[in-house]
Amino acid sequence: MITTIGAIVRGDREVFPPYLYDAYRSTIKRSPRLPLVDVPLTLSERTGPGPAISAITPEDADLTRNAGTGGEAIGQRIIVTGRVLDERGAPVPHTLLEIWQANAAGRYVHRADQWPGPLDPNFLGIGRCLSDADGFYRFLSIRPGAYPWKNHPNAWRPAHIHFSLLGPSWVSRLVTQLYFPDDPLHALDPIFNAVPAPARPRLIARYDHSVTEPEWALGWRWDIVLRGPDATPFEAPQSSQTSQTSQVSQAAATTAKEGAQ
Ligand SMILES: [Fe+2]
Repeated sequence: MITTIGAIVRGDREVFPPYLYDAYRSTIKRSPRLPLVDVPLTLSERTGPGPAISAITPEDADLTRNAGTGGEAIGQRIIVTGRVLDERGAPVPHTLLEIWQANAAGRYVHRADQWPGPLDPNFLGIGRCLSDADGFYRFLSIRPGAYPWKNHPNAWRPAHIHFSLLGPSWVSRLVTQLYFPDDPLHALDPIFNAVPAPARPRLIARYDHSVTEPEWALGWRWDIVLRGPDATPFEAPQSSQTSQTSQVSQAAATTAKEGAQ
């Protein structure tokens, strides 16, 4: 358990990307210019999402078929699984995991994504599930493609899957990205490189043959650690009660840019 603000701040610098990272141009506009102000939390921030979780079905975790067309998404099938863990390695059950990703050609179903990569009518690119009693989550999807973005000339994002984790209340939301090993675009990606170097490997899934299913899908394993010195890097500093303001701001900022990057 982290007990001091000093430890948290030092941990943030070692694990999490800064609010402002010049090479990642979107951070120039959205990073705070003034000291953060604590906002007292009310019931609306401390509760929820409540009934929304009860509506989750097993089909929600199958991105190859959850478009509801009766057809199957095109691409290399992948199983992405792992555990949600706390700073002591204990499982965190009943966490809502939501993912979104580009299709096999690197295209999102999103009005802001207009590059001439092909859309797949059988792929929405969104899915969700709950971690089980042992903290395990599992998705079936297709491997996403790299895609261009307008951060700088000839900018391409490495293949990735966006993850949002939601605990018992809105202020417990955390957002991050999973990457795949040996991608030559890692070294060129300012979002990936905004993460402190020692923590970047924590964002990369590992191939796990025990997860791979014969004649079906390749298996990837990725554990997510919510806090502590081994925390998975999230998209802005996470810390203590004193930073609940920043967590709320981060969630809002992330929501605004979802799908575009
Ligand atoms: Fe993306």
